[in-house]
Amino acid sequence: MEFRIKEEEARSGCIAVGVYERRRLTEQARALDGEGAVTQAMRSGDISGKPGSTLLLRGVGGMERVLLVGLGEQGAVAESAFGTAVRAMLGVFATLGAAQATVALPLDAVAGRGQAWAIGCVVAAARDSAFRRDGLKSRKEAAPGGVRRIVLAAKPDAAAKAALAEAVATANGVELCKELANLPSNICTPAYLAEAARRLGRDWGVGVQVLERKQIEQLDMRCLLAVADGSDVPPRFIVLKHMGGKAREAPVVLAGKGITFDSGGISLKPGAGMDEMKYDMCGGAAVLGVFRAAAEMGLPLNLIGLVAACENMPSGRAVKPGDVVASMSGLTVEVQNTDAEGRMVLCDALTYAARFKPAAVIDIATLTGACVSALGHHRSGLFTRSDAAHDMLAAELLAAGRSSGDLAWLMPLDEAYQEQIKSASADLANLGTPGAGSITAACFLENFTRSYTWAHLDIAGSAWEQGGAKGASGRPVPLLLAYLQARARR
Ligand code: BES
Ligand code: MN
Ligand code: ZN
Repeated sequence: MEFRIKEEEARSGCIAVGVYERRRLTEQARALDGEGAVTQAMRSGDISGKPGSTLLLRGVGGMERVLLVGLGEQGAVAESAFGTAVRAMLGVFATLGAAQATVALPLDAVAGRGQAWAIGCVVAAARDSAFRRDGLKSRKEAAPGGVRRIVLAAKPDAAAKAALAEAVATANGVELCKELANLPSNICTPAYLAEAARRLGRDWGVGVQVLERKQIEQLDMRCLLAVADGSDVPPRFIVLKHMGGKAREAPVVLAGKGITFDSGGISLKPGAGMDEMKYDMCGGAAVLGVFRAAAEMGLPLNLIGLVAACENMPSGRAVKPGDVVASMSGLTVEVQNTDAEGRMVLCDALTYAARFKPAAVIDIATLTGACVSALGHHRSGLFTRSDAAHDMLAAELLAAGRSSGDLAWLMPLDEAYQEQIKSASADLANLGTPGAGSITAACFLENFTRSYTWAHLDIAGSAWEQGGAKGASGRPVPLLLAYLQARARR
């Protein structure tokens, strides 16, 4: 999919214009209504103007094709109505015998949002609808026809061009995240993730360091190693650097859970649906996606990425329930359940994060089924301590979720929950007593983050979609990029 910003409309291909309910036309629709064909179509009842309604006309206003797109009630267009309209428009574009279309929707009329937001919305939805996941099929599905070049009808000023470039970079980051996450675990191993990181180094100038087992051992990351022990596939600890900010500016650190397959280990998961545990590296894939986009958009910020990558498997060498291991921080952990492995690999990554003297650390993990029970698949769970610095970080992350349409919800992290992860034999248990499973998991991580400002994103419900559209969502790459962009501007 290709995008351009241009003021004048081509006559060939298709032009999409907005219409409202009660037969009201947008300015762009009125401009094509010289012979009254649009008014006539509205009067006929063939299109309601409700968000998502569409009607294709031919030869109207001297254009080859005109697609009327319903936007809802006249006035400021609601964000959700605009999104619905854009997706309906793209659905029709995909069926057309035209390769190019002009989007002449009112990009500056969305309530509370500017033109840059609308451009981002169109680009994200178009790239999402064009995303293919038949890469491993020996017979590829027929190449989809339909529109492949989209012209956004707007003045091509610096702001519009920057908005388009940032939207395309974001889409590239989302796509890298989805591609890696969708790969099966026999292909996407920790070494494969490391190679993907190195490719970001070669192609985009991202700084990359890959630590192998020896170096991980030298760092005393024994919680990470305890998880890796059960697998014949060796672990990797990946460190990424994007130094777009001032030389001495404290970096933001992103730490991703990169479990390339989570069988549960000795605390083996049931068989049904276990295939979905190839997605247990979505946090790590999101970190790589953010770096791809940050490099492409030249984000003026210092950014460190950490991916703790390994498999969680049962074997004669696997960590067992009841085992006690010392984390890199020195805190000892009783492994009560080997399936609570995400917090094991992340606690060492979070300890490692402190060496960068970070301005903020955000970890991203498909951490708990309990988060799916709490929030379902729409919102990621956000956890922070509550004090001035953390309340601000939480507010910024929630706002970034709203502006990018990649929503999160703030969960509690009270001291009181720490009671639930006490152990008789070690400093901490990796399993909480019943209740509040996503919170006790976050509390566990909290113990390793006391020297800096920290937030945790549990993306167990949001990182991939089940059923027909099964596949990674690329979340929370848009949220993280929106946060980082806002931070760079502040
Ligand atoms: N990767 C899973 C969490 C998960 C489950 C993500 C389902 C997405 C969908 C994690 O490692 C895990 O197994 N968590 C356990 C923790 C429990 C043993 C305390 C869980 O949620 O059941
Ligand atoms: Mn697990
Ligand atoms: Zn897991």
